[in-house]
Amino acid sequence: MAKLKVGILISGRGSNMAALIEAARSPGYPGEIACVVSNKADAAGLAIAAAAGIPTVTVSHRAYPDRESFDRDVSAALEKHGVEFVVLAGFLRIFSNWFPQHWAGRMINIHPSLLPSFKGLHVQQQALDAGVRLSGCTVHFVIPDLDAGPIIAQAAVPVLEGDDEAALTARILRQEHRLYPEVVRWFGEGRVSESGGKVAVRGLAPGATLLFSGEA
Ligand code: GAR
Repeated sequence: MAKLKVGILISGRGSNMAALIEAARSPGYPGEIACVVSNKADAAGLAIAAAAGIPTVTVSHRAYPDRESFDRDVSAALEKHGVEFVVLAGFLRIFSNWFPQHWAGRMINIHPSLLPSFKGLHVQQQALDAGVRLSGCTVHFVIPDLDAGPIIAQAAVPVLEGDDEAALTARILRQEHRLYPEVVRWFGEGRVSESGGKVAVRGLAPGATLLFSGEA
């Protein structure tokens, strides 16, 4: 079966992108990374992608008068590389409504909290401030509203006494790197559907869309 052509959008470090590139290298993985697009020329992830032989594109948001014209050029870059499915991996630009509408049902994001709790920035600190005992990450479809959209899968981790933002962030990030390649695999296998805001993933063991790690 043809592999799903995935485009990854980044703004920085690119550790989730690196996890996806690594997964896509394994034989039988149903997706291939067709290109990586950054809005920042100095995003560290660009060098990682280039070293892996993946085409990279920088579309600097500073060069555009408004969000939609930037979004249309990002989209054109993705389409030029044959991208069918868009994965946001630490892409820190807010879209115009046009972009998520254009890629509706074909674009996902990972967010470092158990949505719908803790949207926006510094969400790990928000979780610590709220005193929750569990946090984690969420993979969801992207819609025009920020950090919203039907939830596809989550990974949960404990919040431990003495955690600071860095410790909790690192614990969640390890689960992001497990969860995201798994979810992209499900899309490549054509298992994912959405109806009325609820996502179903066909052919998985019950509970497989929730990972839990008790690791400190
Ligand atoms: C990740 O923790 C991701 O969940 C978060 O940015 C980080 C990017 O790290 N995304 C968001 O907060 C989106 N709202 P990475 O560049 O190393 O993958």
